[in-house]
Amino acid sequence: MYKFVIEGGIPLKGEVVISGSKNAALPILCSSILSDGICRFANIPRLKDIDTIFKLLGILGVEAEMDDENHEVTMDPSGIKAFEAPYELVKSMRASILILGPLLARYKRAKVSLPGGCAIGVRPIDLHLKGLAKMGADIDVSHGYVLAKTSGLKGDRIIFNKPTVGGTENIMMAATLAKGITIIEGAAREPEIKDLADALNGMGARIEGAGESTIAIEGVDNLSGVEHRVIPDRIEAGTFMAAAAITKGLVEIRGVRLDHMAAVVEKLEEMGVRIMKSGEASVYVDGSGKLGPIDVETAPYPGFPTDMQAQIMALACVAGGASSITENIFENRFMHVPELMRMGARLEEKGNTVFVRGIDRFQGASVMATDLRASASLVLAGLNARGRTELRRIYHLERGYEDIDRKLKTLGANIERQVGGI
Ligand code: UD1
Repeated sequence: MYKFVIEGGIPLKGEVVISGSKNAALPILCSSILSDGICRFANIPRLKDIDTIFKLLGILGVEAEMDDENHEVTMDPSGIKAFEAPYELVKSMRASILILGPLLARYKRAKVSLPGGCAIGVRPIDLHLKGLAKMGADIDVSHGYVLAKTSGLKGDRIIFNKPTVGGTENIMMAATLAKGITIIEGAAREPEIKDLADALNGMGARIEGAGESTIAIEGVDNLSGVEHRVIPDRIEAGTFMAAAAITKGLVEIRGVRLDHMAAVVEKLEEMGVRIMKSGEASVYVDGSGKLGPIDVETAPYPGFPTDMQAQIMALACVAGGASSITENIFENRFMHVPELMRMGARLEEKGNTVFVRGIDRFQGASVMATDLRASASLVLAGLNARGRTELRRIYHLERGYEDIDRKLKTLGANIERQVGGI
C-alpha cells in the first residue's frame, strides 16, 4: 500500500491542466449500453473508478479500447450478453448502479447488487427503483440484489421529492428507449446531467431541459453511436483552487468551466482568494492575500457542492476568525474532522455543522484518508503544514484525482508517494 509524504509550506506556482469529470464520465460510459453503434468518448480521466466501470461494462460484454495517452475510449456494445453487476464491483463503487436504467431499457432485464452502506452515509437507491417501477419495471429486492425486468418501459411522470444525481441519470437513460414521453420533476441540475444528456442526444435521444429541474424525454426506437467530449472536472478544479489558496501560491488552472463553478468561486473570493480569468478556459488563482472566515452550506447544484465541503473546511481552518461549514446532502460526511484536528485544526462538530476557529498553520502529522474528498482535504492541510505529513490509504484519492501527486509536484509541492502504511 502507498502513502503520501508531504513537506508543507511551499507556495504552489505554475500551471495545471484539469482532467475530465469523473462524475460525468461514469454515467456517459454506462450510456454506451443503450447504443447500437460505436461510441467514442474523449477527455476520460484515468482513475480507479473509471477502471471499475470498464471492468463492469466488460463483464456485461461491452468492448472498450482505452487510449490512455489521449484520454479517449472507443466502446462497442454489440456483444452484450450478461446483465448482472456483482457485489464485488458495486461495493467498491456505488455508481455501478447506473447500469440499471440502461440495461432495463435496452435488454429488459438487469441484476445489480445493492450498494449497501458506504463511508459517507446510508445512501439509498429507493428513488431510482421507484422511478423505474413507475415506468413499468418489475423490481424485486432479495439476497442483496435488485432484480429488475420489464416487458417494455413506458414513459411516465417521475417526481423526485429530493434531487438525486444518480437517480436522475438512471431514469433519463432508461427513458431514452421507453415508449412515449417521460417527464422528470425535481430533477438534479448538476452539469454532469447536462453532459450525459448531450451525449445521449448525440446518439439520437430526444431529451429537453437537462440542467433544469424539469426534464422531458421522448423515447425513440434505437440509439446510434456517438462522439462526445466529457466536461472538465469541476471538483478537481475547485480542489486545485483551494491548493493555490492554502499555500499562498499563484496557480494557473487550465481546462476549466468556470460557469460550472460559480458557488465555489464565490465562496473562495469571499474568503479573499483572487480568481482571474486568464483565457477562454483558464484562470489564475492568487492566494497571496489574507484569508478571512466563511459560512458555507452544501446544497444541490447550483449550490455549494458537498464534494468540495472537506476542502473548503481545510481552507477555513487556516483563515482568520470563525467559520461554519454545514453539510446538508450526506450524513456522516465529516470524517476528515478528527484527522484535521490531529493536524492542529480547532473544530467543533454540532449536528451537521462544524464550527471552525482559525489557526495560523497546520502542523504535519500522520493521518488517514477515509473517503475521496476527505483525503483531498488532508492533502491540502499537508501542503500548508509546518513539517511532515504522512497520509495513508491514498487509494481513496486515486478513485477521483488523476495523478494528483504528479500535478502537485509540477506546481512545486514536496509530495512523495512511498510504499508503506496500512
Ligand atoms: C452523486 C455524485 C457524488 C456527489 C453526489 C451529490 C456521482 C458518481 N457521484 O452521487 O460525488 O457527492 O451526487 O452531489 O455522480 N438519495 C436517496 N434516495 C435515492 C438516491 C439518493 O435518499 O434513491 C439521497 C442520498 O442519500 C443523498 C441525496 O439523496 O442524501 C443526494 O444523493 P445523490 O444525488 O443521488 O448522490 P449520488 O448520485 O449517489
